[in-house]
Amino acid sequence: MSEPLHPREPARVPLANQPTRGHWLRYGADAGLRTRIWLKRDDHTGSELMGNKVRKLEYLMAEALAQEATHVITCGGEQSNHARATAFAAAQLGMKSVLILRTDDPAKPPAPTGNILLDRLVGAELVWISRSAWKERNRLLTEQAERLRSAGQRPYIVPEGGSNALGSWGYIRAARELVTDLATIASPEHPATIIYACGSGGTGAGLVLASKLFKFAERGIRVAGVNVCDDRAYFLDSISKICAEADERWELGANITHDDIELVDGHVGLGYARSRPEELATIRDVARTDGVVLDPVYTGKAFHGMVTELRADPDRFGTSVAFIHTGGMFGLFADPDTIAQVL
Ligand SMILES: Cc1ncc(COP(=O)(O)O)c(C=O)c1O
Repeated sequence: MSEPLHPREPARVPLANQPTRGHWLRYGADAGLRTRIWLKRDDHTGSELMGNKVRKLEYLMAEALAQEATHVITCGGEQSNHARATAFAAAQLGMKSVLILRTDDPAKPPAPTGNILLDRLVGAELVWISRSAWKERNRLLTEQAERLRSAGQRPYIVPEGGSNALGSWGYIRAARELVTDLATIASPEHPATIIYACGSGGTGAGLVLASKLFKFAERGIRVAGVNVCDDRAYFLDSISKICAEADERWELGANITHDDIELVDGHVGLGYARSRPEELATIRDVARTDGVVLDPVYTGKAFHGMVTELRADPDRFGTSVAFIHTGGMFGLFADPDTIAQVL
């Protein structure tokens, strides 16, 4: 797709394999669901860069390159997919990375499993912080940038999850692929819902903006996020802030209000990155029916939430859903004993 996405689309550095393919799942029919489930394979955007984050990083890293950054600094949970993708994108573009990662006890950093192993492999500098210090993450990002600047380096800060106005272009671009993907699936007579896992709001912001720009409602397409942490009120606020910032900066005229943002709350379960046996069982079942690997923190939890909703109300999302597989597979290798409980 080389034609411009939008007259005011910002600069982008190609990092992701896109467009990503999609396919129907057997899972829905096997589980007795009326709604057909189509899977958008954004877990195939890359290997080291796998998932939704690389789509946002295409825009963020373009800005870092334009500023001739030497270092990229970002933050996340200890198994952050975003931090890992940022560290690899930095290495691929000849930059170094600093990752501020949240953990229970920073004096005893977690073992190098899953994403942490990859962070260390790529040579990212890891700064471990406590859960209470996490509240100060934006100040800590700035402090790290100042430290590097005083050492003569040029740092570029990528916010949590790559979720800001610039990063949201990644999912405006993905949404254009979805318009083509869903052309024969969705119509006002056969409505479809695009469903995604919502973790910091950037993917949601891009999709919500795109739903206005590409007139999704006229095409019979809805967009709904299943939050895997926090709650509906939190994401209504964060998604609308990112949308407003993008609207103002690029004069998109989208005018997003809370009514434009659909969130399916109630599926956080035991909390962020904590799994219930039934969520793990859904991950196992999708692997067995379709040969697809979902992750426990984001896609598995959101997919399980979607299925739970469909069991309660088969018409909840229309004739079909397009579930975006936003990646995260490395998270599965962070805690193999937990998933092994359902095998
Ligand atoms: C695999 C995966 N899926 C979904 C999300 C959620 O995306 P966002 O942070 O844009 O809400 C994330 C990151 O938070 C992720 O790593």
